Amino acid sequence: MRKPIMAGNWKMNKTAAEGTALVREMQKDLLAVPAVDKVFCPSFLAVPDVARAVAGTELAVGAQDLYWEASGAYTGEVAPAMVREFCDYVIIGHSERREYFGETNETVNRKIVAALAAGLVPIVCVGETRALREAGETQAWVRGQVVAALQGLTGEQVAGLVIAYEPIWAIGTGLAATPADAEEVCGGVVRATVRELYGDAVAEAIRIQYGGSVNAGNAFEIMSQPNVDGGLVGGASLKAADFIKIVQDAARAKGL
Ligand code: PGA
Repeated sequence: MRKPIMAGNWKMNKTAAEGTALVREMQKDLLAVPAVDKVFCPSFLAVPDVARAVAGTELAVGAQDLYWEASGAYTGEVAPAMVREFCDYVIIGHSERREYFGETNETVNRKIVAALAAGLVPIVCVGETRALREAGETQAWVRGQVVAALQGLTGEQVAGLVIAYEPIWAIGTGLAATPADAEEVCGGVVRATVRELYGDAVAEAIRIQYGGSVNAGNAFEIMSQPNVDGGLVGGASLKAADFIKIVQDAARAKGL
């Protein structure tokens, strides 16, 4: 059985002080739900303080990006080992990075390889635009992103990954995918592609999240879908009561 994983992608919100306060506010209630893995993904400058705030607990920290080189003249970038000093996870290939910062399937793959080599668990984001969905291209697009992301990885590496299916039209819009649509892509495309490439054992092990306007009102139904193993939560992860309820509902949805 896959352990559900709920990650809060704080994006470019919360200073170190604000982030630490938010984590302190949620800590007790989140730790009361051990059946779900919980990950905070603050901005780089807030990562060390948030990591110190949760040290020694089973709350985990993730970065929102990294660079694939180990060190050197790459002004503004953060190396995998620097992330690993504080984090267990790293979000890679978020649609905002693909759209605003020129990330491609190729750079996403390089970052995944580098993150794994540093001992991080990548949370790899894939998902289609509204135009692609309306054109009936969702399956081919998402399959292509998954194939490209996994290029050159071993089955063992893939089994330990998290893939977040995030339809771009659902991110920050309040218009989440229906539970059926989330299930159709998480299971019928993402897991099916992993199965096609790596076989049943790897496909059954990899954890697949849904992301895009997950909130305290819709999390239970979305997380009830058999191929949805958790969520990547943006806006609602910035509100203590909402993120707590989302984590509790994920456990309840899985009968845990
Ligand atoms: P949202 O963002 O929950 O605010 O829609 C999700 C994400 O981009 O990861």
